Amino acid sequence: MADAHYRTALVTGASSGIGAATARALRRHGLEVIACARREDRLKALADEIGARYIVCDLRDQQAVYDALGGLEVDVLVNNAGIGRGFTSITKASPEDIEATVGLNVMGLLHAVRALVPGMIERARGHIVNIGSVAGLHGCAPVVYGASKGAVHLLSQDLRMDLSGSGVRVTEICPGRVMTEFFDVAFDDEEAKRKFTSGFTLLEAGDVAECVVHAINAPWRVNIATIEVIPTEQAIGGVQIQAARSETRP
Ligand SMILES: NC(=O)c1ccc[n+]([C@@H]2O[C@H](COP(=O)([O-])OP(=O)(O)OC[C@H]3O[C@@H](n4cnc5c(N)ncnc54)[C@H](OP(=O)(O)O)[C@@H]3O)[C@@H](O)[C@H]2O)c1
Repeated sequence: MADAHYRTALVTGASSGIGAATARALRRHGLEVIACARREDRLKALADEIGARYIVCDLRDQQAVYDALGGLEVDVLVNNAGIGRGFTSITKASPEDIEATVGLNVMGLLHAVRALVPGMIERARGHIVNIGSVAGLHGCAPVVYGASKGAVHLLSQDLRMDLSGSGVRVTEICPGRVMTEFFDVAFDDEEAKRKFTSGFTLLEAGDVAECVVHAINAPWRVNIATIEVIPTEQAIGGVQIQAARSETRP
């Protein structure tokens, strides 16, 4: 590897999608990999395939996170586990969707960092890679998901401030749409899922994994702070204007 001398990586959400692709890519680049998620059958199959260790852990269970991760010697933490329940208007997101999405995407990530970063500081060697989203950088309609990824964007910047001088680097990778199981989990309704995943060529999980490899392979003096990576056929931005109903005007 590059001159940062990383040896071990822990990838959360490694049982599918971007996490599994990242675990494979990091292994190919010579790191020892610990794959982490809830579905043990998937983790075991991946671990057998690439020669990795795995940890079964529900990142929404605070105690389980500290029990499973506390004290591990990990150089690269890829905070990838994330969901998009309530991927709709705030008026349609259930209270459970809000808890689940923020609980994993923000709280789970923070607890994983809290469990592993003291060891990185002590060893003066570490890299935290947070998988954010374009939804954390730009306004978008799914409020709950956008809020959770907006938090990931700012906490990535805050972590760089907090860890300044420690030698621990922090990278945030913000993908646009990627063809994974994300949309199966986000939507109960096939039609909604189809709307998000058809009609154009989405990124593949491996495309995002290559961004992780790029960031951790950078020379030690270089901290790749934020990567925004989107499909060629997806553009983000614009202004939404819709006249208010007349009875709502003063
Ligand atoms: N797909 C996209 O278009 C897209 C775009 C931008 C950003 N992202 C972000 O990319 C990351 C990876 O998503 P993906 O697209 O690869 O989706 P995915 O295939 O559904 O992967 C999500 C991963 O998170 C794990 N996970 C879910 N709940 C968990 C929990 N409570 N504890 C531990 N692990 C849990 C899942 O494993 P288990 O179910 O086995 O626990 C799975 O491995 C997420 O942070 C997502 O927000 C995705």
